[in-house]
Amino acid sequence: MCGICACIGNLNAVKYVLDGLKILEYRGYDSAGISYIENKELKTIKSVGEICNLEKKVKGIFSNVAIGHTRWATHGSVTEDNAHPHLSFNKGIAIVHNGIVENYKDLKDKLNNVKWHSQTDTEVFVNLVAEKEGDLLEKLINASKEISGSFAVALLDKDGNIVFGKRESPLYIAHINNGVMAVSDTYVLCDLAEDFYTLNDNEFAKINGNGIFFYDKNGKKIIKNKEKMQNFNKNNEIFEKTHMKSEILETKKVLIETFKNYKNELLFSSIKLPKKFEEIELIACGTAYHSALQGAEYFKKIGIPSHAYIASEFRYGNEILNKNALYIFVSQSGETADTIACAKMLKEKNMTCLALTNTPNSYLNKICENVLPTFAGKEIAVASTKAYSCQVFVLYLFSLYLSGKFKESEKEILDFLKNFPLLDINNGLVDKISNFEKIFFIGRGQDYITALEGSLKLKEITYINSFAIASGELKHGTLALIDKKSIVIAICTEEKIKEKLFSNIEEVKAREGSVLLISNFPSSFESLILPTFPTALMPIISIIPLQFLALHMCEKLGYNPDKPKNLAKSVTVE
Ligand code: G6P
Repeated sequence: MCGICACIGNLNAVKYVLDGLKILEYRGYDSAGISYIENKELKTIKSVGEICNLEKKVKGIFSNVAIGHTRWATHGSVTEDNAHPHLSFNKGIAIVHNGIVENYKDLKDKLNNVKWHSQTDTEVFVNLVAEKEGDLLEKLINASKEISGSFAVALLDKDGNIVFGKRESPLYIAHINNGVMAVSDTYVLCDLAEDFYTLNDNEFAKINGNGIFFYDKNGKKIIKNKEKMQNFNKNNEIFEKTHMKSEILETKKVLIETFKNYKNELLFSSIKLPKKFEEIELIACGTAYHSALQGAEYFKKIGIPSHAYIASEFRYGNEILNKNALYIFVSQSGETADTIACAKMLKEKNMTCLALTNTPNSYLNKICENVLPTFAGKEIAVASTKAYSCQVFVLYLFSLYLSGKFKESEKEILDFLKNFPLLDINNGLVDKISNFEKIFFIGRGQDYITALEGSLKLKEITYINSFAIASGELKHGTLALIDKKSIVIAICTEEKIKEKLFSNIEEVKAREGSVLLISNFPSSFESLILPTFPTALMPIISIIPLQFLALHMCEKLGYNPDKPKNLAKSVTVE
């Protein structure tokens, strides 16, 4: 959440920062701003809303040093005053910040001479820096000792110095042609640099015309190694009006690409499993949590005890750790704060960790000794679609590998990929569903997980209140909500629970609720028929019409599916 970008060099840093912010916009688009030096003066321009608003304001400005920010509001509403960069009381230092200063109220009380211009925790940070002794780097290092919480910060002073600090939130720095750039995500650097540095927790850096210099928390110079930039595979070849539509349409292609990379089993055989391998625990947030749930089903089916946990719950819960478990962290971005915090916690306790991510160079990949990549290509729309399908697919392939059935399943998988159906949902159905006040998703077993994901997609981009329920639970409460204003979208891809689910549908109909069944089994209910593939692969097929349903309803309402309100793609705060 929030993206920061800084640049210095023999170039127009304002343009580089602006271009960087455009790429980082998926991290938040409430407001944006840039600080730069012009005629030896520190200047700041901000605007509310998407980066294009800022772009109009900074047109024609040239400066060889700049810092910028795109905001996902945490403290303080969406206003220009609350937009970053924030300035110190003497207007001598500007800051951009990704993270949360948890003790900002206490610090604010201590800084009682400051006249505040915003409600943000970040303004407190920059004023704390400004009152410290020394050069800009010393000031930052000293101030950060008093900060509790997370931060990736870039500070620019009126003499053109830029310094950085990091704790928990990500920050990467690289040499680019004629300059140096620092950013929240290596996405920005992919086409600009061949290698980069990762700033670790409690490390600091300074950049200037002579290069990049790193320091530890005591201000002692440190030497860091460069890392090779790994790029995304080029799967973004479909260009529809919205990223979300393109990304759903790319699903078949990226599944094929993913299988190509796993076909020889090398990526699996390089995994270091615990010596006495007993169970698999999966930890994730949002959509990735739903693929973790699906993964746990796959592992249980081959006899490995397995559970999926929501990272923010696991983090502060009382889970009993098992040295003989493999802990899998599922994350599209590899940057999600809660997921990363769990991985760090378990690494410190010497557990065996595996990152299943879609983002080369991601922080989660660095923390875990094992990495299983998904090859979904860049996913830009906030609501995850093709990355979800690839996560579920890789977890399935991993379960085949662990059960020793990978090779014998190859033909079946190739057939699945060759005939993979991207099932859209027709306008008539979309119109019909739109007319209902209440929308429920039901299913059992693996279909319940698909129901959860389908309902999440709808909420994320249409703002319609819907929820998913295990269909056997309907009669334990939710049935009280069913009436003629309700539609229940039921998913059924498992033979063994078919009759049970059909009875649940009858219970809904008896209360005058409408039903749409999404299934590969024939029935007398209004249905969207799915083709039949091996049961374990059906969740990768049945989620597609639900993704399209959310997309079409969003389009019908006139919203932008790529940038839903209040959300961000990378959630780098707790
Ligand atoms: C945010 C995104 C979701 C995503 C979740 C987890 O909430 O909007 O689409 O599922 O974060 O992200 P991750 O990158 O860890 O998969």
